[in-house]
Amino acid sequence: MAGLENLTLGKEIVVRITDLAAISETKEHLARIFLTPEHRSAAELILRWMREAGMHAHLDAIGNVCGRYEGATPGLPCLMLGSHYDTVRDAGKWDGPLGIVTAICCVADLNRRGKRLPFAIEVTGFADEEGVRFASTLLGSRAVAGTFDESVLNGRDRDGISMREAMRDFGLDPDHIGAAARARRELMAYLELHIEQGPVLEANNLPVGVVTAIAGATRMAARLTGMAGHAGTVPMALRRDALVGAAEAVCAIEEFCRTDGNGLVGTVGYIHAAPGATNVIPGQVSFTIDLRAPTDTHRKRAVADIVRQIEAIARRRKLSLQLDVTHENRTVPCAPWLKAQVAEAILAEGFAVFELPSGAGHDGMAMIDIADVAMIFVRCRGGISHHPDEHVELADADAGARVLLRVIENFRARE
Ligand code: GLV
Ligand code: MN
Ligand code: MN
Repeated sequence: MAGLENLTLGKEIVVRITDLAAISETKEHLARIFLTPEHRSAAELILRWMREAGMHAHLDAIGNVCGRYEGATPGLPCLMLGSHYDTVRDAGKWDGPLGIVTAICCVADLNRRGKRLPFAIEVTGFADEEGVRFASTLLGSRAVAGTFDESVLNGRDRDGISMREAMRDFGLDPDHIGAAARARRELMAYLELHIEQGPVLEANNLPVGVVTAIAGATRMAARLTGMAGHAGTVPMALRRDALVGAAEAVCAIEEFCRTDGNGLVGTVGYIHAAPGATNVIPGQVSFTIDLRAPTDTHRKRAVADIVRQIEAIARRRKLSLQLDVTHENRTVPCAPWLKAQVAEAILAEGFAVFELPSGAGHDGMAMIDIADVAMIFVRCRGGISHHPDEHVELADADAGARVLLRVIENFRARE
């Protein structure tokens, strides 16, 4: 098989990851947020790579970059590979792009050898997985799965721009998102390669792993409203300070998750106090809550308990509370028949087969509605992710690519 010697695929991947990371909102901090000009530039670059790799490529109705490498005859159902090209703020280079770039490098390798398979290969660069801009997530893959929630179009970013407006500015028509949807019969499976984003593979001295399931998640937006007032004149006992209420809620969430002992994790990653002046009591505070657990039952119980605690804090402090669920995804199991083919490829590449769950969310959580799903994890240094220090060794990128290429070349449809 070509690409096996001299870490050829790994080197190609690192060059492309570096090129993509240069496309960012600012030079100092990598940020490629959904429907921004840099998001558009990244899409253009990925489109070019896809075409150079022998694929037909286009942007779909929500801004996903879609490449197709035909099989032995045109129009066959496809094995879909992919990941996302948006990032969090002050991101690492690898979360998302590794899956897209590796898939493109594998197709480029097949194309160089003139190899066609008895099925098509599609590579999708999903436009929004992180959900940084519009408080919902998996927007790209939900559109492909036909489960896009149209109400998100009216959601506004921190600058007051609605998703509808942002789509128009990007050159997309918000009334035609439905055109991105794919039918189950078009897909044989969805397979995503991604960095692990945790330390388990490193601890086990392994470059790659087979994912068992993607943990479910609930995201909420909370708003506490009290009464703004003069910082010098309103006595402490008469205040309805929304920020101290929010602070108490943040600590309660941490304490609840810290003492859970069963893998529950909770994060308040964004908070905004208004009006936001040194000498004004904060009258209104908005914050987000992200909760995840290994099982859906456990997560749902935790969400209910935490909501009760925040309600009690609001009551005691005479604050009004608005709490909305902005995102909810159940735990998604990876398909045993696909896991078996990934395990076979890992063994053939000379590595031990190691299974592990994903605590992070992935596009497979949406794709499960139209296809069986599996994932290959690649080791990342120190398990660090959503941070500029995120790093993958060239040899590990190469190992991941060789495994993926092997899965592709030996892929068998579900019986
Ligand atoms: C995506 O990276 C998520 O798990 O939040
Ligand atoms: Mn991420
Ligand atoms: Mn990711």
